[in-house]
Amino acid sequence: MSSWHTSSLATHSITTLALARQVLECCRTLAGYSENDMGTTRTFLCPAMRDCHRDLGSWMEQLGMSVRVDAAGNLRGVYGGACPNAPRLVIGSHLDTVPNAGAYDGVLGVVLGVALVEALAGRKPPFPIEVIGFSEEEGVRFGFPFLGSRAFTGLLEADLLRRKDKGGITVEEAIRNFGLDPSLIADARTRDPAVAYLEFHIEQGPVLESLDLPLGVVGAIAGQSRAVMLFRGRANHAGTTPMHLRHDALAGAAEWITAVEHEARSNMGLVATVGSIDAKPGAGNVIAGEAQATLDVRHSDDKARLEALKRILARAGEMGTRRGLTVEHEMRLNQRAVAMDTRLVEGAEKAIGACGIKPHRMVSGAGHDAMIVSGKIPSVMIFLRSPKGISHHPDETVQLEDVELALRAGLRFIDELETLA
Ligand code: HGY
Ligand code: MN
Ligand code: MN
Repeated sequence: MSSWHTSSLATHSITTLALARQVLECCRTLAGYSENDMGTTRTFLCPAMRDCHRDLGSWMEQLGMSVRVDAAGNLRGVYGGACPNAPRLVIGSHLDTVPNAGAYDGVLGVVLGVALVEALAGRKPPFPIEVIGFSEEEGVRFGFPFLGSRAFTGLLEADLLRRKDKGGITVEEAIRNFGLDPSLIADARTRDPAVAYLEFHIEQGPVLESLDLPLGVVGAIAGQSRAVMLFRGRANHAGTTPMHLRHDALAGAAEWITAVEHEARSNMGLVATVGSIDAKPGAGNVIAGEAQATLDVRHSDDKARLEALKRILARAGEMGTRRGLTVEHEMRLNQRAVAMDTRLVEGAEKAIGACGIKPHRMVSGAGHDAMIVSGKIPSVMIFLRSPKGISHHPDETVQLEDVELALRAGLRFIDELETLA
């Protein structure tokens, strides 16, 4: 076990700055837990997730929290309040990562939750505090996101448990392989009344840095559509097939990808990304007979997003007809834009203001577990500045002073909640 979480407990007189250092050290330690040697890569219930559960679970237990891992692989610690049955404050984010990730996306929100309990220094708020490390938010392993928070809110439909990863393993089998019982997935659903869900998260963009602000409050999270596109043509010899006789799936996908980018560049507030492409048979001297590509379309306005998606899919069809390709697509996610709870947003703004920081309300372009949890529990997010706006990359970072401010704002938010509860 690393040193970062034993030093301070003995004294209980830890300062928020020392705790902030502990938070950063913990995030860096957890970043070392990876399923491969490609930097930090930790997908749904890979073995490395067990190391995260061990370290964070031990810190939680040392704080007197009751700890469990639910059937969806969510790490859950509960800190008792003065009134044990009062509607609780839930603080959470995700412990999984994208491939070759940074050390803070998701993890920081979980670690800050545990650190905030420590910052209470034994004080018991009137309500319990549950800190959750969701098992999967990115959607990397099974192609659909929010697996952990869907289970927490009772939205993990049975068909999703049968989804397979690239190795043909289903979600259900992955849960069993981790030593959990998928038949108990319903037990992951929260049944405890909750007054609020609070998610700390790095902004993952350039806005707070451009305003020279350490923290921001999320008023709404942009909606997103994700799909997998399949372009099929005809594989053939790269040397003997004249250009006008080709049905090149990869060239067709490439033409479509530039059209996707043009669509996004021409519409204010729209972002569209083709993040991965896989050509078959994948040999340099063979015309690609097949190309599979991912599509990610986002906008804070649902109508604008869905209209753009329609145009992008129509472009794929037109291009396919002209090139003699078949084009199919499978929608993987249509997540509407989600507004955060106004009272909690105002409460978070007051908490940040009480720390001497001008509160800034903003839209999140990134998706978060709060999108899912907000369907069941009034939710709010507090963003921490992302230096250089970098994320989903090893250079992702966060500043010590901003982490300390987040802890101080979190303590103030807990005070605020007592008035809101
Ligand atoms: O992709 C996202 O929006 C988030 O980082 N999962
Ligand atoms: Mn992410
Ligand atoms: Mn995230």
